[in-house]
Amino acid sequence: GDVAVLVPAAGAGVRLGPGAPKALRPLAGEPLLVHAVRRIAAAPSVHTIVVAAPAADVESVRSMLAPVAPVIVVPGGAERQASVAAALAAVPAGPEIVLVHDAARALIPPDLVESVAEAVRSGHDAVIPVLPVVDTIKEVDAGGRVLGTVDRSALRAVQTPQGFRRSVLTAGHAAAGDPLTDDAGLVEKQGVAVVCVPGSEHALKITRPFDLALAEHLLAAGA
Ligand code: CTP
Ligand code: MG
Repeated sequence: GDVAVLVPAAGAGVRLGPGAPKALRPLAGEPLLVHAVRRIAAAPSVHTIVVAAPAADVESVRSMLAPVAPVIVVPGGAERQASVAAALAAVPAGPEIVLVHDAARALIPPDLVESVAEAVRSGHDAVIPVLPVVDTIKEVDAGGRVLGTVDRSALRAVQTPQGFRRSVLTAGHAAAGDPLTDDAGLVEKQGVAVVCVPGSEHALKITRPFDLALAEHLLAAGA
C-alpha cells in the first residue's frame, strides 16, 4: 500500500444527542470508529492509518483498535481541521497519497477508499467523492423568506474519503485560516484543482439519531 488514511474521530457528536463522543458510540454493538477502521484497513492500498481521538480517550482508543488494525492514535483538536492537522503531522515517511476519512462515515465501502486512492495515483492532486443533490435547494434570508432557487444540477453533496497528493494536503493545512468543514476546501484556497469521483450512499455521515438508525438497518441488511 502507498496510502495513509487520516481518521478524524475527536468530535463530541452534539447533534446525535447526549452521550459519549460520537466515534465511540455503538453501532450494532461496536463503536462507529471500529467499523470505520475495519473497512479502511480492508482496502488493499492502505498502508498507514492515523486516528485523531478525543484527547481524554487516546489510550482507550489505542486498546480498542489494537485487535482491529495497526493504527497510530493522536489527540484531536477543538475543530475538525485541527484534528486532521494533528493526524497529518503523525504520518511517518513513506506514503505519498493521503486520504482523510470521517469516523462518522462508519459504513464506508472499501471500494470507495480504493477508487479515491486510484484517482490520486493516476495524477490528480485532490479528489472528492460526491453524490448528486436530490432535494430542491432554496436560498433564504434570515427571516426564512425565499430569495431564490439554486440550480441543483450544478451542485454536489460531498463525502469522505477525500484524497490528496501528500505535499498538497500538507501545504493546504500549513496555509489554513479559519476552520473549514472539509480538507478539499483548504486546497481549493491554494488554487489546486479538485476533481470528483462517484460517492456512495453507504458513506453517509452519521450525524443525527435518524442516521444511526439507518446505519443499523443497512448493517442488518448486509452492508
Ligand atoms: N471531528 C474531529 N475533531 C473535532 C470535530 C470533529 O475529529 N474537533 C471529527 C468527528 O469525530 C467526525 C468528523 O470530524 O468523525 C465529522 O464531524 P461531525 O460529523 O461534525 O462530528 P461531530 O463534530 O462529532 O458531531 P457534532 O458536530 O454533531 O458535534
Ligand atoms: Mg462537528
